[in-house]
Amino acid sequence: MSIDFSSMEKIAEGKTKIIYGNPEDTKTVYMYFKDDITAGDGLKHDIIEGKALIDWQINRNIFELLNRIGIQTHYILSPQEKVVLVKKLGRKINLEVVTRRIATGSIVKWRNVAEGTRYDPVITQFHYKDDPLHDPMIDDTYIDYLIKTKGATEYVKMREMNAEIFAHLEKAFVHFSIQLVDLKLEYGIIGSDVYLIDEITGGSFRLWPYAHENPNFNQPNVLKELNPDGRLDKDTYRMGEKIGKVKTKFEEIAKITSRFKELQIQ
Ligand SMILES: Nc1ncnc2c1ncn2[C@@H]1O[C@H](COP(=O)(O)OP(=O)(O)OP(=O)(O)O)[C@@H](O)[C@H]1O
Ligand SMILES: [Mg+2]
Repeated sequence: MSIDFSSMEKIAEGKTKIIYGNPEDTKTVYMYFKDDITAGDGLKHDIIEGKALIDWQINRNIFELLNRIGIQTHYILSPQEKVVLVKKLGRKINLEVVTRRIATGSIVKWRNVAEGTRYDPVITQFHYKDDPLHDPMIDDTYIDYLIKTKGATEYVKMREMNAEIFAHLEKAFVHFSIQLVDLKLEYGIIGSDVYLIDEITGGSFRLWPYAHENPNFNQPNVLKELNPDGRLDKDTYRMGEKIGKVKTKFEEIAKITSRFKELQIQ
């Protein structure tokens, strides 16, 4: 039997999802994926028919891996196509937490760094979520100040969790000869704990296939070891590819991540 959303309270509607209160359990909510795709903080917008279903599959495949590993996430289950049951957020943290292994995108513009520079250890930065302001980055020194003087331990937790999740997903994609380049996640407070919330879909990360069979990542710049033109992520859309091509790439991510359940996780 399918879930009837017509009588449910719509708690929020964003660019890619609708959130419904669960009438049978006030501690959980339903997330319903939409076919919309946006970029440039909402400036570019299209509908890709079937995208909601692909997003839902990618999200399910990745959150189920993370839950299996023991990461604290809001994800409970995916009861039907396009629908996810999650723990209800107590307090939203209005940040995007970005971990990077390889420099690309905005960082090569605002930092004097060549594309393909490899960070080891990875670097993690906080961005204040605000579309009109284009999600400005918060200075690390300020974050450290908040942690030290205001006891803002959530930031410590988010930094740790983001790097840990990155490490697990990076390892998972290695099995498919794909490099996880960077990753953008969101967190919230449920009870009194920090939880990974929201979605993980084709716009949450950059995925670049290996350029050849045995890439050498043991060098400061690894651009030649990777094939950015073969990217599977939402950059395809940002760069103006045809909608059909963007959809094919997302389908590829869904196919790859559907095999995460076969992976041995230690
Ligand atoms: N576990 C949760 N409980 C309640 N609300 C949640 C939960 N996880 C995510 N949300 C909410 O879902 C909404 C996200 O929807 P969507 O991603 O479509 O929004 P958006 O337009 O992209 O805005 P945002 O930039 O906040 O993501 C946000 O309001 C977010 O707070
Ligand atoms: Mg969103």
